Amino acid sequence: MKFFIDTANLEQIKEAQELGILDGVTTNPSLMAKEGITGAENILKHYLNICNLVDGDVSAEVIATDYEGMIKQGEELAALHPKIVVKIPMIADGVKACKYFSDKEIRTNVTLVFSAGQALLAAKAGATYMSPFIGRLDDISTDGLGLIADIRHIYDNYGFETQILAASVRHTMHIMDCAKIGADVMTGPLSAIKGLLKHPLTDSGLAQFLADYAKGN
Ligand code: E4P
Repeated sequence: MKFFIDTANLEQIKEAQELGILDGVTTNPSLMAKEGITGAENILKHYLNICNLVDGDVSAEVIATDYEGMIKQGEELAALHPKIVVKIPMIADGVKACKYFSDKEIRTNVTLVFSAGQALLAAKAGATYMSPFIGRLDDISTDGLGLIADIRHIYDNYGFETQILAASVRHTMHIMDCAKIGADVMTGPLSAIKGLLKHPLTDSGLAQFLADYAKGN
């Protein structure tokens, strides 16, 4: 299972990268704005900074919502750095743009997926990654993890190679449940990733080992 971090915060990206378990980064316009990164030029520079920090894929989102605009922006983003994956919204023109990029071997991440039907379309259009937003579904009393399971089932039925990128992960248990279901990738905040480290028996066991070692020294 690949681990992506869902942030535009360079410190957090660096911390996850240094942990040695990071496979990539996802961002979106809201995450950029949260870091005070605004304006097309600054956003492009920030993508480059992120690419220079990590080893894995970096999703960079188009802002255009029409086919021609998405192609133009997507090609600019893809040319920026080999690690860039073009992030495209799940709308009709986005599906067309995804097929265009897939034919040109430009990698894509189809975002804002909330149904299995949308996931099926993204796979048929040749998406590299497809991002169902599980936390936002949970927020409206809809089963986000159930959606991941349905998509896993459908993709496996037909051998689709599109990777299920569980997005809008909010906490550590989301990560574990996605792993059990078989999501290919999860993207979440650093806090959710670090939550995997925690166990009180690890802490007390280590304290005991250190105390016992100290007795003989
Ligand atoms: C995915 O690529 C999105 O950036 C993200 O996971 C959205 O998460 P949120 O629902 O916590 O905003």
